[in-house]
Amino acid sequence: MSGNSTVCVHAGERKDATGSLVTPIYQTSTFYYPEWQKEYVYTRLSNPTIEAAESKLAALEGGDGCLVFSSGMAAITATLLSVLEKGDHLVSIPDLYGGTRVLLDKELPRHGIGVSLVDCEDSSAIEDALTEETRAILIETPTNPLLRVLDMKKIAEVAHRNSAILVVDNTFATPINQRPLELGADVVVHSASKYLNGHSDVVAGFAVSSEEWIESIEQRRRLFGGSTDPLAAFLIARGMKTLDLRMKVHNENGMAVAEALEDMKQVGKVHYPGLRSFGQHALAKRQMEGFGGMVSFEVGRAAKDARQVSRRFDLIKLASSLGGVESLASLPLETSHKYISAKERRESGIPDNLIRLSIGIENSEDIIEDLERAISGGKR
Ligand SMILES: Cc1ncc(COP(=O)(O)O)c(C=O)c1O
Repeated sequence: MSGNSTVCVHAGERKDATGSLVTPIYQTSTFYYPEWQKEYVYTRLSNPTIEAAESKLAALEGGDGCLVFSSGMAAITATLLSVLEKGDHLVSIPDLYGGTRVLLDKELPRHGIGVSLVDCEDSSAIEDALTEETRAILIETPTNPLLRVLDMKKIAEVAHRNSAILVVDNTFATPINQRPLELGADVVVHSASKYLNGHSDVVAGFAVSSEEWIESIEQRRRLFGGSTDPLAAFLIARGMKTLDLRMKVHNENGMAVAEALEDMKQVGKVHYPGLRSFGQHALAKRQMEGFGGMVSFEVGRAAKDARQVSRRFDLIKLASSLGGVESLASLPLETSHKYISAKERRESGIPDNLIRLSIGIENSEDIIEDLERAISGGKR
């Protein structure tokens, strides 16, 4: 199995005694002993449906092991607390998903873990931020919501030279568009609530890594209780069967929308790694196989202008989250970045008039028509 679509369809699928083509939902909390408890004991620890979803993503990301969680935040928390303990230090970036940012700003310091947020585009800034206690660097690339692209190979080299590991949140790109482990990352985390599941009907997360790290993260999953249930795991595995197909359309639609927005006179800066005008387009081309379905753009001068435009969308639904088949729009100011202060948003370069789009798999002409009408002030 080598083609992405073949791996999406077949990897991890299990055969059982009934000959079921599709891995069944083993909707059970526990397993008979002594016959079955050699393999399975209790679903918080493991379950065949959950393992099938994990094997599929491990194959796609090229990791030795993989764990599914009840949310992306549960995966990130268990991963960070496997690596870091009291007195340790983490380096990360300011323009993270808002929930992760609050975890780093407020929760880790409560446990005696130091955090420095630096511009990881600049490797000397990372070197300056590293201390003897630094155990990990955590990045997202492309970042949320500005889609900045960070050089994973370079950052992994800096991390390893300083006895730290690199953790990459690969939610926006998915393993179809980039594989961080191949570029030197040690752990990949995901919000599977987004593209991996792809249908906006499950909240879940993943961590993928080497056997050694997976063993340590699994300890935290079983103790912190971040496991998921078999039905959610089944839905994610089913979603992942079409991941390659969906990402092809997200990539095409993302590019078409970004180009159309660049041509609209009312629109300011368009943030999309696939555009030639994008600051890190060359790096994006080097490390990504597709540029994804996330596009952010600035409109007017202030939050009220972005609010006005977003309230005029019709086909595009105003909702937080991303990565589903339907196109969504959100104002980071009101959603993903609501819980960080205006000053922190400014320092992270996130303007108040920014609209973030998650472009779905509808026909691109329909999405562009909705954008043109909303931006030019037309009624629904
Ligand atoms: C990049 C990124 N990472 C992590 C998360 C958190 O995932 P979840 O909502 O599944 O906990 C999100 C959620 O929006 C996200 O956008």
